[in-house]
Amino acid sequence: MDNVIVTGGTGLIGRQLSKKLKKKGYNVAFLSRNSNPGGDIPVYLWDPDKNMIDPEAISAADYIIHLAGEGIGDKRWTKKRRVLILNSRIKTCELLFNKVQESGTKFKAFISASGIGYYGAVTTDKIFSETDPPSGDFIGEVCRQWEISAERFEKSGIRTVKIRTGIVLTGKGGALARMTIPVKLGFGSALGSGRQFIPWIHIEDLCNIYLKAIRDSSMTGAYNAVAPEHITNREFMCILAKVLEKPFFFPAVPSFVMKILFGKMSEILLNGSRISACKLISAGYLFEFPDVENALKNLFPEK
Ligand SMILES: NC(=O)c1ccc[n+]([C@@H]2O[C@H](COP(=O)([O-])OP(=O)(O)OC[C@H]3O[C@@H](n4cnc5c(N)ncnc54)[C@H](OP(=O)(O)O)[C@@H]3O)[C@@H](O)[C@H]2O)c1
Repeated sequence: MDNVIVTGGTGLIGRQLSKKLKKKGYNVAFLSRNSNPGGDIPVYLWDPDKNMIDPEAISAADYIIHLAGEGIGDKRWTKKRRVLILNSRIKTCELLFNKVQESGTKFKAFISASGIGYYGAVTTDKIFSETDPPSGDFIGEVCRQWEISAERFEKSGIRTVKIRTGIVLTGKGGALARMTIPVKLGFGSALGSGRQFIPWIHIEDLCNIYLKAIRDSSMTGAYNAVAPEHITNREFMCILAKVLEKPFFFPAVPSFVMKILFGKMSEILLNGSRISACKLISAGYLFEFPDVENALKNLFPEK
């Protein structure tokens, strides 16, 4: 069976994805900065700061999935943090490309994460699709450069897929865990105007999309990985409270409070547009969780 090397596989998406890939019969290994990240997946080491990759990782690969990157929503975007966010995605991708070129290894496809932040932190009526240009804001620029670095593989003749991911909903961790805290405490409310859209995706669908990107050799270029349903922040928080059987009557958290709490990063919480899933659907992908209520019920089955 084919070997899949996953950079940043120790993270939220990588852990779930590797379980799915193993279940489907793939040999999975992580490319990690940590020789012992726990779990039962073999690990190859890399040290992007020292331009070092275990050469066996490259020679073993039939597919490379590039998920590595500093958490975008983990800390305030100081100048130093912005450099880390950018370099941990782009320099790592360049390192992979250079090592693949040096070794002369041919593999079947390079699949890179990207984000719907490509289109910018804006709230409009527009529905963004893959042909829309990148935004000039910080995350838009990160995604643009991230994708350009991935496209070097494409130019060298390797099939390349870029998964522009929405907010990933999982049962544990990630954005949903943070959104759930006030709701569980009985303080569920919208953020800012509440009119900004939340382009979301259930982790199961996201893993299936990566699997499809491996198996379907007609997939190439960028795909928005978001559920087809368009839902505002207020609607989302209201459904979350309903699924958790908690009240939803508190006034929205004002934008200025969000700005004090999160600084510039508040932009991605206070803004959001509709993102089209049409290209993925046209490619034959059938969503398991197209609507948020069923997605949340699946993630919180005890309710
Ligand atoms: N989760 C979401 O809602 C979401 C939405 C849109 C896009 N994405 C993108 O999808 C990718 C995976 O997301 P995730 O939620 O699984 O991320 P995550 O949980 O933060 O994991 C990312 C992994 O990247 C590696 N990493 C972190 N900092 C690094 C650095 N400075 N240099 C090299 N590697 C580094 C780490 O692996 P090691 O410690 O093992 O090296 C970490 O486990 C990310 O690039 C993210 O931006 C995620």
